[in-house]
Amino acid sequence: MMKKIQIAIDGPAGAGKSTVAKIVAEKLQFTYIDTGAMYRAVTYQAMQQHVSLNDAGALTTVAEKMKITLQPSAQGQLIFIDGQEVTQVVRTPAVTANVSQVAAHAGVRAVMVKLQQELASAGGVVMDGRDIATHVLPQAELKVYMSATVEERARRRFIDNEQRGIASTVEELQRAIEERDRQDSEREASPLIQAPDAIFLDTTHLTIEEAANEILTLAYDKMV
Ligand code: C5P
Repeated sequence: MMKKIQIAIDGPAGAGKSTVAKIVAEKLQFTYIDTGAMYRAVTYQAMQQHVSLNDAGALTTVAEKMKITLQPSAQGQLIFIDGQEVTQVVRTPAVTANVSQVAAHAGVRAVMVKLQQELASAGGVVMDGRDIATHVLPQAELKVYMSATVEERARRRFIDNEQRGIASTVEELQRAIEERDRQDSEREASPLIQAPDAIFLDTTHLTIEEAANEILTLAYDKMV
């Protein structure tokens, strides 16, 4: 019997965490939980309700009142707010530009972390984000910190956008990634940082399959 472990994957924007985490979860038949989508959902909801992104109290109330549900599908994880699917709309550039500001509020994080811990409590999960190893699942059996050079991460986003028919330039994507990484690393409430017991995985020169295989090898080791 293989153990149903918890796998925490953290790292900066565009490192390929969600793509790789999804493959790892599929292979192990584990649940994949994209925590970035949850912070995006709160940001989207706050924007819809014209709540000031500086108002910690109001944002925490937004997070407390909305019901976030995740659902696996062939196209990946779907996310719902109060039963309405928002998978695509939480990924617009407007939400992306604001999400780090919303995610910096400790009150918002407390609500999300509680929900994330509930979702992971049964084990058999691959969770990706910024603070999974350090705060959400400090007891996770496997912790991986995935990164790549910012140039490579911007290049991947650019190709991604091209395939989706979104016009962008590598330069503007790199600037946006750098700004989001800066905000996520410099915030006071559980900033993006590599946990001391996390394994560093540089994906700059790895394909998606190679990165997934590295993590799978580490996971099988922990599952026996
Ligand atoms: O992973 P993704 O790029 O979708 O995350 C969007 C944003 O959500 C991050 O830039 C960060 O501000 C926030 N986030 C976070 N903690 C997590 C996951 C995401 O603060 N665990």
